[in-house]
Amino acid sequence: MSGDPYQTTRGQRDRSIGNPDGMGDAAKYRPEGAAKAAPGGPFLIGEAITGGYGKGADILHRCTIAVEKGEIAVIVGPNGAGKSTAMKAVFGMLDLREGAVRLDGADITALSPQARVRAGMGFVPQVANIFTSMSVEENLEMGAFIREDDYRDTMEQVFDLFPILREKRRQAAGELSGGQRQQVAVGRALMTQPKVLMLDEPTAGVSPIVMDELFDRIIEVARTGISILMVEQNARQALEIADKGYVLVQGRNAHTGTGKALLADDDVRRSFLGG
Ligand SMILES: Nc1ncnc2c1ncn2[C@@H]1O[C@H](COP(=O)(O)OP(=O)(O)O)[C@@H](O)[C@H]1O
Ligand SMILES: [Mg+2]
Repeated sequence: MSGDPYQTTRGQRDRSIGNPDGMGDAAKYRPEGAAKAAPGGPFLIGEAITGGYGKGADILHRCTIAVEKGEIAVIVGPNGAGKSTAMKAVFGMLDLREGAVRLDGADITALSPQARVRAGMGFVPQVANIFTSMSVEENLEMGAFIREDDYRDTMEQVFDLFPILREKRRQAAGELSGGQRQQVAVGRALMTQPKVLMLDEPTAGVSPIVMDELFDRIIEVARTGISILMVEQNARQALEIADKGYVLVQGRNAHTGTGKALLADDDVRRSFLGG
């Protein structure tokens, strides 16, 4: 990826997927009379989170991850650092020992993942993120499970974002290429018109060209006002498109900064970006 993607015309093609106000309504989970977050506070934040799986040892240690409205935040770090665990914690799939998750000023720490979807969060997990035996179209329909209104326009918007999926709409998702499956997974999450889209390694196992293309589409989604919180193995390329970057090591925040600052940081380069 060359230069600063925000100064090119990339991502300008289609804003129609956008629903910055979302269908989710975090406000209704805000306790009566509770103050909204200070203006400029992060749109989504997992703050000082400590927790692990079941009765096991803590994996995350006062870990903080946040993303602003319409921005791209990227989490990088070695294998086993707790990146996926941090995503699960923010999405409500982990019991926290300490810390809180807030969305648009509302404390959502106690909400189930389903309730978080209703509040405006979309999540594409690292594994098992599509139904392989179902068609592309059926996968998108499954994504719309919480919607009682007409979601056909949203499906058209997903097809505009990923035209190949329109062509293959009747094909079993399991027959698609790796990159196309990831498009199905992202499209499925977009079907609820989320305000925040969480992606765990969306470019795993795809070629550099397909990765670049997928990043372009992710930038496009962010331009519509949707916040992106993404874990990436392709750290350098991901930090290039990141407004904010988090380097996690052993469940702790090791480095935090703008994508640009992290890319320029000697320590980060040497330890995590291969020099
Ligand atoms: N479902 C699970 N149950 C118990 N331990 C897990 C589970 N998933 C991950 N872990 C452990 O949590 C740690 C962090 O894993 P993970 O969050 O998947 O790291 P990353 O995504 O950064 O590679 C690892 O030690 C891993 O073995
Ligand atoms: Mg992971």
